[in-house]
Amino acid sequence: MNLKQYPNVHVSTHPLLKHKITIIRNKETRTALFREIVNEIASLEGYEVFRNLKTKNIHIETPLEKTTQPMVDLKKICVVPILRAGLGMVEGLIKLVPEAKVGYIGIYRNEKTHKPVEYLCKLPKNIKQMEVFLIDPMLATGGSAIDAISTLKKHGAKKINFICIVAAPEGVKAFCKKYPDVTLYIGALDRKLNKNKYILPGLGDAGDRIHGTED
Ligand code: PRP
Ligand code: URA
Repeated sequence: MNLKQYPNVHVSTHPLLKHKITIIRNKETRTALFREIVNEIASLEGYEVFRNLKTKNIHIETPLEKTTQPMVDLKKICVVPILRAGLGMVEGLIKLVPEAKVGYIGIYRNEKTHKPVEYLCKLPKNIKQMEVFLIDPMLATGGSAIDAISTLKKHGAKKINFICIVAAPEGVKAFCKKYPDVTLYIGALDRKLNKNKYILPGLGDAGDRIHGTED
């Protein structure tokens, strides 16, 4: 896929991130390790993503003198996981921005149609003034992310980013067509979707692997 035509899309090139994504792709990786690594991946991606946060100068005093130094207004950051799988990334991301607000959007894909079904939405009241970081490990057809962004926009969110771990080209295209104004951060861009709309090579069902419900 030629990413040059999608300036809002960023795919990580960090070797540690690639290494950790390989661990969670492996079917031998069990729930406890899977959860731990998903959070580590979220922290690594977050470090890159938060690079663009605005800072504001404040006056402080070091033990030696008065000075003006930059701080980020962490309360203006809102992290929104798409349930269930997005929950697995919250801790890793929040570690970097501990005062951020957290909202929730619950969506599952209908097993036959693969279309998103939204069942929960709980967002902070003043989301209009916040920069939103929507998180979900998987961007497959793009349906769930697109639906969640429509919901965020309906609630007044203006500055939105989407962070995923694995994406399929089909989902990236659908996402960028619908929301070219939303910045998309991807850990690994995979080959394609299979006939059941699972990502290849992918990592299987992220929600089931994070929550231990695959058997
Ligand atoms: C998975 C995943 C995304 C969605 C991606 O959720 O966590 O939300 O599928 O697929 P899409 O891009 O084709 O919409 P799932 O439906 O398995 O729900 P769960 O997280 O509750 O298990
Ligand atoms: N949802 C997942 O959890 N995995 C996929 O490969 C596609 C959608």
